[in-house]
Amino acid sequence: MTTPHNGKLYIETVGCQMNMLDSELVVAALRKQGYELTGDVAAADTVLFNTCSVREHAEHKIYSALGRLKFSKQTRPQQVIGVLGCMAQKDQELVFQRAPHVDLVVGTGQLGEIPRLIAEARGTRQRSLAVSLDRREGTRMEVSNSFQSYDPLREPEMRPSPYQAFVRIMFGCDKFCTYCVVPMTRGPEQSRSPRDILLECRVLADQGVKEVTLLGQTVNSFKVTEDGKIWRLSDLLAAIHDINGLDRLKFVTNYPRDMTDDLLQAVRDLPKCARYLHVPAQSGCDDMLKKMKRGYTIGEYREMHQRLKETMPDAAVSSDFIVGFCGETDAAHEKSMDLIREMRFKNSFIFKYSPRPGTKAYGLMPDDVPEEVKKARNNEMLALQNQISGEDNAKFIGRTVEVLVEGVSKNAEKRGETDASHGPVQLTGRTMCDRIVVFPGNPRLAGSLTEIAVEDCTSTTLIGSIMTREVQHGSTSLLPILV
Ligand code: 5AD
Ligand code: SF4
Repeated sequence: MTTPHNGKLYIETVGCQMNMLDSELVVAALRKQGYELTGDVAAADTVLFNTCSVREHAEHKIYSALGRLKFSKQTRPQQVIGVLGCMAQKDQELVFQRAPHVDLVVGTGQLGEIPRLIAEARGTRQRSLAVSLDRREGTRMEVSNSFQSYDPLREPEMRPSPYQAFVRIMFGCDKFCTYCVVPMTRGPEQSRSPRDILLECRVLADQGVKEVTLLGQTVNSFKVTEDGKIWRLSDLLAAIHDINGLDRLKFVTNYPRDMTDDLLQAVRDLPKCARYLHVPAQSGCDDMLKKMKRGYTIGEYREMHQRLKETMPDAAVSSDFIVGFCGETDAAHEKSMDLIREMRFKNSFIFKYSPRPGTKAYGLMPDDVPEEVKKARNNEMLALQNQISGEDNAKFIGRTVEVLVEGVSKNAEKRGETDASHGPVQLTGRTMCDRIVVFPGNPRLAGSLTEIAVEDCTSTTLIGSIMTREVQHGSTSLLPILV
């Protein structure tokens, strides 16, 4: 049977890794139905935006992009424009009001419907809205069921890299931090079946995937009972670890309160687990943490960090921070700066507070830190984190690190250097503690574990060259080689 030709598909994705995974799954489903990907929006018959609502800025960008399509739609009346993901679930009908030329609005829990909805929109020219229940619109079970599980088995060529894959292990979030819209846009916290997760990991390993990153908004809160057995994240890691072919396991994002000893010990004892833990602190000030309803004090975060470092002294920890949250004083900001100095995070993702309709903070707490102050605190924090990252990266100079080679670096790609026909090109990879490493080599090394001698660094990147083993008088030494 031949696949029907369904025209050209353009998709733009913003936001987190969960969105990248969702887009991969949507594209895979559409390709199976004869859609062909294009990078040129003007040439596309179907245009999809997979959106993010975590900050207002991300939504503005999507509405501007939609605005630009208004006139192109007049010249291509057959074009179908769809808004998917978090903003679709949050704004619903409002998307049609703000951008009347949009055909589809499909929330995070309805992505499985997309192939049918596009076909219907093209046939009938009717708009359609497919969203899940609001968290107050039904019982927990009803709301959970309205966020359909969407993790079909996928096509290997749809991943950004053939050696790396995301696997969702949880949906949604129940933590309700007062600033965050995710519990609304992604629904109630639900852990996926370990059987399904393991099957997916096995298929990925058979397709040549070397590194699996398990995804969840609070990935370490994973807990589910299946066939009478309780599975926590530590149990899942141990089971995935046994799969032949996989070299590395990662998981993001962790919730500080659920960083239990069994999990830390699993990461320590399972050699394929990356020695890297993303555990967002959000603030270094107890008053702010309380207003954010994060559920821990800085004393408790510190205790968690100490336990982590005692279990794995070599582990790298990274964090997220929000600057300028409601009522944040200079003194409160200084406490976040102190926390960064004390914890020496490998890196921090820093965000200016953006009030989000539907959250508790939006209704109850004034956004009273001026934009210039948010900006100044953001820059100051970034400068401090960069200084620390640079100092800690410099400690790697003269050492050898093992990297999983990801492929040609972005810079080399921009220069058009994608093969080794004119000599080695700049490759990129990551260490076990998630540090980015660039080095000259042959792109064929992508997907392999390779030892790199670190010679230099920046605050974000280690710079080195490939080592080879040379046996001299019975002892093995490592020498740099050119490939
Ligand atoms: N404003 C700014 N940053 C936010 N984040 C979540 N909600 C907001 C908001 N309203 C940040 C948090 C979270 C990361 C994914 O985004 O730091 O960890
Ligand atoms: Fe948002 Fe808090 Fe849930 Fe993270 S834990 S997704 S910040 S509500």
